[in-house]
Amino acid sequence: MFTHCVDQILRSRRSTRAYKTDPVSARAVLDILDCAATAPSNSNTQPWRVHVLAGAPMRELGDALVKSFREDLLPPSSHFPDPLPPDFGARQADFAARYYGCLGIDRLDAAARSAQTERNFHFFGAPVGLIFSIDSRLTAHSWLDLGLFVQGVMIAAGARGLATCPQVSFARFHPVIATHLRMAPHHVTACGMSMGFAQDTAPVNQVRMPRASALEFAQLVGFP
Ligand SMILES: Cc1cc2nc3c(=O)[nH]c(=O)nc-3n(C[C@H](O)[C@H](O)[C@H](O)COP(=O)(O)O)c2cc1C
Repeated sequence: MFTHCVDQILRSRRSTRAYKTDPVSARAVLDILDCAATAPSNSNTQPWRVHVLAGAPMRELGDALVKSFREDLLPPSSHFPDPLPPDFGARQADFAARYYGCLGIDRLDAAARSAQTERNFHFFGAPVGLIFSIDSRLTAHSWLDLGLFVQGVMIAAGARGLATCPQVSFARFHPVIATHLRMAPHHVTACGMSMGFAQDTAPVNQVRMPRASALEFAQLVGFP
């Protein structure tokens, strides 16, 4: 029964990019974060930090990020190596085809793609926006801890009927975010996240991203 519940939440989670205006209470978000903070971490270091935004401060941050995005003065993001190894490049291309396809945006329409990217910075209209940061002195394994926490946030949100979208798009704009949120000097923005009630019928929320099956990525060793 419990397994069924957890499986159901994991399997129904998807990146949601259109939200209803219904608010989400601070209490609900804090419950979700407390739940996610049960994530394991290397020597229990708990490296996650998160700013939870709503209302005017969220809008103001979004405006500043859109401005910075349009000015295009910050160094380009390096979320991926260039070039991406071919298997991953093929998946990225498939993602783009599905994502822009569901919005009717042509692959070559740079202006329309840009406009859609911009929607990231206002958290796709969600009532709550989260900014996850981590001490930049920490290394890859602590980022793994942060990732476990971020997934926990999405699953705990899902258990409460709330949709989410993790967003690395914020990372490039760390200088703008750090100033707005008065982040500790050695902290770095890892990603953002939209959170709220999904607009279930919005075209952008109809997209489904496929997964390779366990048989494709797992190697079973020592089983009969
Ligand atoms: C670390 C991370 C960063 C992501 N950044 C973005 C982003 O900036 N904008 C966005 O729209 N989606 C973003 N996504 C969502 C992915 O595109 C999405 O997880 C993937 O296509 C699989 O789709 P699904 O989440 O609906 O299963 C991100 C996901 C992860 C895990």
